[in-house]
Amino acid sequence: MELIGHGHSCIEIRLNDGTNLLFDPFINGNPLADVSLADLHPDYILITHGHSDHIGDMLAIAQANKATIIAIAEVATYAQSQGVKAHGMNLGGRCVFPFGSVKFVPALHSSGYEIDGVMTYMGEASGIILEAEDKKIYHAGDTALFSDMRLFAKDQSIDVAFLPIGDNYTMGPEDALQAVSYLNPKITIPIHYNTFPVIQQNPAIFVEQVVGGKVLNPGETILV
Ligand code: NI
Ligand code: MN
Repeated sequence: MELIGHGHSCIEIRLNDGTNLLFDPFINGNPLADVSLADLHPDYILITHGHSDHIGDMLAIAQANKATIIAIAEVATYAQSQGVKAHGMNLGGRCVFPFGSVKFVPALHSSGYEIDGVMTYMGEASGIILEAEDKKIYHAGDTALFSDMRLFAKDQSIDVAFLPIGDNYTMGPEDALQAVSYLNPKITIPIHYNTFPVIQQNPAIFVEQVVGGKVLNPGETILV
């Protein structure tokens, strides 16, 4: 599979069978985004939580591509109310899709979305574990450090972990290093930094301290 960064927490995954998965498609308003909406052609859009820098452009992209949104129940219900296809899940739940399985796991964070000027409850924030093509990918979403992250690597080791390092809203680099020690992934890719002034970080310094650490700049692809 190919992993492509689009800035912030937006990650595109192209599976060998042609299935295109898109995580947290924050494009419009994302100063780091390397693509426009018309460049994205997902079959499924996976959303970690309801904040606007993660829901992003999910509705427009889902509409344009007839894609299915996979999200926590409240986010999925909102998406359906806006006329797009969505599959609702919740923490601890795993579901097998044609491309592989998706499990929603806890994140220590909040989740709400402003609708018509009203901050609306969007369920719990989550991380997402994708298993496809014999690979296990963990997208942590936005989260604080918590020691139960160890459990995510219990049955099968993690091939790739996307971990926030921006600090202020999520783990900073020091806590993300502790998360790496809990998760022990083969490849660790930092996300959620340098998009806004309060989350400025140097990802090169972070990945130097991590075995298998890799910076995935917007527009870059890695093959796993
Ligand atoms: Ni958030
Ligand atoms: Mn965020």
